[in-house]
Amino acid sequence: MLSKSHVSHLECSKCRKSYDQDQLNQLCSCGAPLLVRYDLKNVAGAVTKKDVASRPSSLWRYKELLPVKGEGHIVTLGEGMTPLVPLPRIGRRLGLKNLLMKDEGTIPTGTFKARGAAVGVSRAKELGVRELAMPTNGNAGGAWALYCARAGIKCFIVMPEDAPAIPRNECALSGAELYLVRGLISDAGKIIGKAVKRHGWYDASTLKEPYRIEGKKTMGFEIAEQLDWEVPDVILYPTGGGVGIIGIYKGLRELQEMGWIGEKMPRLVAVQATGCAPIVKAWEEKKAESEFWQNSTTIAFGINVPKALGDFLVLEAITKTHGCAVTVGDDEILRAQSSLASEEGAYVCPEGAATLSAAIRLLKDGWIKADERVVLLNTGTGLKYPETVNIKVRSLHPDEDLPV
Ligand SMILES: Cc1ncc(COP(=O)(O)O)c(C=O)c1O
Ligand SMILES: [Zn+2]
Repeated sequence: MLSKSHVSHLECSKCRKSYDQDQLNQLCSCGAPLLVRYDLKNVAGAVTKKDVASRPSSLWRYKELLPVKGEGHIVTLGEGMTPLVPLPRIGRRLGLKNLLMKDEGTIPTGTFKARGAAVGVSRAKELGVRELAMPTNGNAGGAWALYCARAGIKCFIVMPEDAPAIPRNECALSGAELYLVRGLISDAGKIIGKAVKRHGWYDASTLKEPYRIEGKKTMGFEIAEQLDWEVPDVILYPTGGGVGIIGIYKGLRELQEMGWIGEKMPRLVAVQATGCAPIVKAWEEKKAESEFWQNSTTIAFGINVPKALGDFLVLEAITKTHGCAVTVGDDEILRAQSSLASEEGAYVCPEGAATLSAAIRLLKDGWIKADERVVLLNTGTGLKYPETVNIKVRSLHPDEDLPV
């Protein structure tokens, strides 16, 4: 059964050209990403906060603000409504009264990439896609491969040889056709770009289709709902391709237009690694776009993206919210990962840990104030990164006593 769609059209994020939402679309003819636009007045008339609160605990509770029309096309593994957990010990140690973490470690496939995959794959299925392809740094590929398996869509994936091993397994077991490249995600993107042209596949690369971002914006909806429709003062986000931070900004703007949240926006912070910081560099140089970052490297593999197609949208989101962009070193990331585990019991991915390092830095600089409500976005579980933690554990003979 078809439910009423509130999508009005697709709109180019640069030249504003409009596209039909019922056609398969990729980028605008000008080369920029397309964004889904809704008739937000209609949505505000069709659903209330109370309706949303009474629905199941998944991102589909915001269905009027999502692009999938037929509920039968929804491909779901139960993603969304992840916890917003307080970090009282670290907060106390740092002198931050209200430090919270949106924890995407509990979502299917272990990272927030499940949100983009759930909505992106559902809409692709609805539009009749049978085959799609994408480059990935790992987690997006793992998520899309699994959701595609559930949807019956054939999936072609290329990822860097150095990407973490677990997403490789996700791709392989789900039946996706997986290739590794001796290079970066940008090299994987070039290979996919050629293959897509040759075979006519749907290109599911970051921001080359309009629906992945729709899944990711639900992180913004959830943070607002979980704070009783008040936004925090600051949200820190580990930024690679930028879809998450662009999505959170888009989602919050939609809630504002519907009158569900007030004028206040959280200051959005793009966190990057010192070894790969094109957006921070552009931000510092007050540029509207970034330049390709040569020889990029970081242990936070998901944010090792030397040039993002949506860089100008990330820069717009942080500028318009009076946010900023900061770098953190791999050593700081490892320290933050360890303190989140030992002080708060949270085993987070290095990308998520980077947001704590950034918060520490911004607090020291006085950019974050002690009484502000600060949300760290942990994009995934540390369990997906067994290679990041190097520990030595003493092995005992069965007859030995514990040496303590
Ligand atoms: C765990 C994790 N965090 C953050 C990111 C960066 O995501 P975005 O494209 O939203 O900037 C990725 C991307 O691969 C990731 O896997
Ligand atoms: Zn355009």
